[in-house]
Amino acid sequence: MSKIPKRLLAASTAVATALVALPLIAPSASAAEAHVDNPYAGATQYVNPTWAATVEGAATRASDPALAAKMRQVETQPTAVWMDRISAITGNADGNGLRFHLDRALLQKQSGTPLVVNLVIYDLPGRDCYALASNGELPATAAGLARYKSEYIDAIASILADSKYAGLRIAATIEPDSLPNLITNSSQPECQTAAPFYRDGVKYALDKLHAIPNVYNYIDAAHSGWLGWDSNAGPAAKLFADVARTTQAGFASIDGFVTNTANTTPLEEPYLPNSSLTLNGNPIRSAKFYEWNFDFDEIDWTAHLYNLLIAEGFPASTGMLIDTSRNGWGGAARPTATSTSTDLNTYVDQSRVDRRNHRGAWCNPLGAGIGERPRSTPSGYPGSHLDAFVWIKPPGESDGASTDIPNDEGKRFDRMCDPTFVSPKLGNQLTGASPGAPLAGRWFESQFNELVRNAYPAIGGGSSSDQTAPSVPTGLRTTTVGDTSVALAWTASTDNVGVAGYDIYRGTTLAGSSATTSFTATGLTASTAYSFTVRAKDAAGNVSAASTTLAVTTTTGSTTPPGACRVNYSANTWNTGFTGTVKLTNTGSAPLANWRLVFDFANGQTLQQGWNATWSQSGTTVTAAPVVGSWNATIAPGASVDIGFNAAHTGTNNAPTAFAVNGQSCSIG
Ligand code: BGC
Repeated sequence: MSKIPKRLLAASTAVATALVALPLIAPSASAAEAHVDNPYAGATQYVNPTWAATVEGAATRASDPALAAKMRQVETQPTAVWMDRISAITGNADGNGLRFHLDRALLQKQSGTPLVVNLVIYDLPGRDCYALASNGELPATAAGLARYKSEYIDAIASILADSKYAGLRIAATIEPDSLPNLITNSSQPECQTAAPFYRDGVKYALDKLHAIPNVYNYIDAAHSGWLGWDSNAGPAAKLFADVARTTQAGFASIDGFVTNTANTTPLEEPYLPNSSLTLNGNPIRSAKFYEWNFDFDEIDWTAHLYNLLIAEGFPASTGMLIDTSRNGWGGAARPTATSTSTDLNTYVDQSRVDRRNHRGAWCNPLGAGIGERPRSTPSGYPGSHLDAFVWIKPPGESDGASTDIPNDEGKRFDRMCDPTFVSPKLGNQLTGASPGAPLAGRWFESQFNELVRNAYPAIGGGSSSDQTAPSVPTGLRTTTVGDTSVALAWTASTDNVGVAGYDIYRGTTLAGSSATTSFTATGLTASTAYSFTVRAKDAAGNVSAASTTLAVTTTTGSTTPPGACRVNYSANTWNTGFTGTVKLTNTGSAPLANWRLVFDFANGQTLQQGWNATWSQSGTTVTAAPVVGSWNATIAPGASVDIGFNAAHTGTNNAPTAFAVNGQSCSIG
């Protein structure tokens, strides 16, 4: 629930009414909605007028007019309505009840366009068993479960089943953190006690809500920094399947999963795009920050989870939601390129956009920003099977109090919310929590200001209330390919507030921006492979997904090769395999940029995997090249890079007899 002091309620509701320009007469119940695969497809989402009014209050108080203008764009965004207590159903001092929101949703619904209301089911017995900040009102006892069923789930279900609301689509986020806690925190006595009630309560909620055709169930699936490791992910998918099998409708009672609820884990780590890469032979995922987890971000995690769920028997139609309300990590501290450090931890720490000191830091993390705007079926991530980006945690609502604050909701003081606390759960580091935080769920204005400032994509400064990204640029092609430059062109994107320009990426590096539909990338190296993508931006700050990737190899031409080279090659051979070690030295007098080493295997060897470069084999020819723009992409005169690979051989294992870099042959020795 959006929390605003009682005395402000009347005034703020009036503001909200003005804001959303409601028709004077509520439309009569619209036609019943059939249950579809993705409820968000072609739909708009409900904007909570109570939360919007609170944001409007913050905009009024903001001393910086540019910040206030951004807040007024944020208040037009849809956020979830949290049923965080039994009294939230009818409404309490902290917010309006469920019928209020559904009635407002009917008013917001445009005829012919479906509307999704995001609703959070959050009142299990023994709630938040591994933390204290959101402990709830119901004890983990049989009596607590009985109340959960009759006073909470039944009460919500009977309202949702009202035929008046049959024309809405209700997407229920089911019980954040509950099943994930049973995977990783089952040694905690509170979680052990709560476990049977969590399973039974979730099953009950799924049964009751699935029985209503226009309600969609999304189970909370934590985030990549919690369940991403295979040792957690596999058991989580199994637990989800086990719970599904106990329900009356089986797998059909679960429409999908929602990740990152109320967390700040990034959607993507643009400067660490491949968690399988190595640095100096060390996997980058072995850095302290990732603790060997392959899932660096929510795109990784949703794709990973989807595959595991399908293997457990979930239908292919299972969809994913990602809570992007606070995972933007923009602002001045956001890195703009991959680090050039050769120290693994420094490399990861300088490259990641997630600025927390530990991925377990969950309470009001300093430096976070609003993330992607809510939208349906975001393109560009086919492996993740996304139904939508959603804002489940309303930006500006606290995760927990930074000091002990007495209350009657069952909430307690969790030291993870205390900025002065050095937490053993974070490798004995400070929590990084924001100071001055109120109780979980209450309005926390200084945090809200920071979230808006650090939004990524940035919130546009104008007056537009647009929340839709421009269409993805299409038809990306080359017009001229030279030795050191590539001219690109593409077809214009469309957008309802107009396309403001395009960002052009070479690999993951921003190569430049253009106001038109063409761009020339310069400073390239001859005979070198590059990949380009383009994203469109609009005036409101929305950015499209990336275009399809265009691979281009610059021409060899007549330019002087970048410099002489030397290769030292050695192989450590056993029965059928060997490790090849290559030292490539720049013996020329100019830096050797974006080098590309080519050689032929002598006796039918087959490459298996390589490190410190991107390796590939085609026929007998093997190519190794650094990731464009990465730490070893340029070799200074006299300097070397060490790269290597594992390969298979049969019979003899002769060394290659010739090596070439960027079209020029190298000396051997
Ligand atoms: C709180 C809830 C609140 C929700 C949304 C949770 O952490 O426990 O009371 O409704 O956040 O802000």
